[in-house]
Amino acid sequence: MAAKTKTVWYCTACGNESPKWMGQCPACKEWNTMVEAPAEARKSSSGVAAGAGTHRHPTALHEVSSLGEARISLCNGELDRILGGGLVPGSLVLIGGEPGIGESTLSLQVPLHLPSLRTLYVTGEESERQVKLRADRLGGDPSGVFILAETQLENIIAEASEMKPDLMIVDSVQTMYTDTLESTPGSVSQIKEVAARLLRFAKDSGVPVILIGHITKDGFIAGPKILEHIVDVVLQFEGENRGSYRVLRGIKNRFGSTSEIAVFEMTGSGLHEVANPSELLVPMHEEALSGTAVCAMLDGTRPFLFEVQALVSSAAYGTAQRSATGFDVRRLNMLLAVLEKRAGFHLSAKDVFLNMAGGLKVADPACDLAVISAVLSSNFDYALPSDVCFAAEVGLSGEIRPVPQTDRRIAEAARLGFKKIYVSSYIAKDLPAVAGIKVVKVASVPELVKALFSGK
Ligand code: TYD
Ligand code: MG
Repeated sequence: MAAKTKTVWYCTACGNESPKWMGQCPACKEWNTMVEAPAEARKSSSGVAAGAGTHRHPTALHEVSSLGEARISLCNGELDRILGGGLVPGSLVLIGGEPGIGESTLSLQVPLHLPSLRTLYVTGEESERQVKLRADRLGGDPSGVFILAETQLENIIAEASEMKPDLMIVDSVQTMYTDTLESTPGSVSQIKEVAARLLRFAKDSGVPVILIGHITKDGFIAGPKILEHIVDVVLQFEGENRGSYRVLRGIKNRFGSTSEIAVFEMTGSGLHEVANPSELLVPMHEEALSGTAVCAMLDGTRPFLFEVQALVSSAAYGTAQRSATGFDVRRLNMLLAVLEKRAGFHLSAKDVFLNMAGGLKVADPACDLAVISAVLSSNFDYALPSDVCFAAEVGLSGEIRPVPQTDRRIAEAARLGFKKIYVSSYIAKDLPAVAGIKVVKVASVPELVKALFSGK
């Protein structure tokens, strides 16, 4: 083991240095801001951009060669698209997600389908044999993949510098540690230092690095959040563990847009791209079922439709339960309160369960109308026609509000064969007529109820 380098503790709020850890910074009196860093790295400011001892001179911008041109295609349409057209050489990409969501699967699957690239796959969580077993399951061509089961960063960088791979994958940042810090692997200072050193390696060598980082269950992002400003690209993996769909969402991208999402399906042989999510997420039931409503959602730049399912039943044990999978339960409570107050539905003695099809997590406010319609449909036990869909937000006073890019949602709904879509009356611009679909404008929740369930 290499000799420990001297470390200092410094305050992330004011920069005050101390030889030992303290709960409260004596200078600025902030709590829990002291982190550990190697003494010399601390001196070269962040220690991230500049190499030690080098002194750079300004260069005219037009003389700087543009390196970003040759992107590396990962031979995975969805992944390439979300990266903005492939991987940029020398970039550091962080893929974050809850444990078990499939980060290791995705990161191993990529090189298995890129036999022409030499990939160094560094694993800190699994043994070489475990990776091999997984690779066998995933199929593909393993001839370009080299496995390194190692957690000490100095060794990893030494091996990588020697091998000069075309791509390096590190699974995961939480298991890696550098000898220059005394804190345990996975601590904030270790995670930051590991990421900063990998970034420097990527920039110096031109090798693109994909780094996996886990998010803790309670939503507090133990790794990725504190790394966002260090890395070039942050992709977040989402989905319900039980559901088979996974959504990869761009959170930050120095080389492209972040409004893209990629959808994958987890199968027995790894993750498969879902190029057209709507076609999977809208089950075209032959007979309509009560408690379901289809929402025309927009995630990123791509509209897609999926089914919202609700179950309303009498509360068995006094206090009514509200539970939502893939949807914010507070938003559900708000929508139920709107139904109660503005439309006179007494749902306070009813259990309400809400589920987004395919285990998707949805944050688009355009789902409100579909949620309300699904809840009412279950409440009345009356099925909505299966060729109807919804795209609008619901406000606190029961007004139905417009959502961005309604025209694109309508076009996608028409493409999938929907015959009717409910939108807000308050849309400022004129919506172009789309063949085959009737656009119904509604202004308030009572008006929607009348349009859907009059006489029921
Ligand atoms: P994994 O990639 O190990 O998750 P992470 O690295 O994010 O912790 O895999 C997560 C789950 O995926 C695991 O519980 C089993 C499942 N899985 C499949 O369904 N099919 C497959 O081909 C593989 C490799 C995994
Ligand atoms: Mg893993």
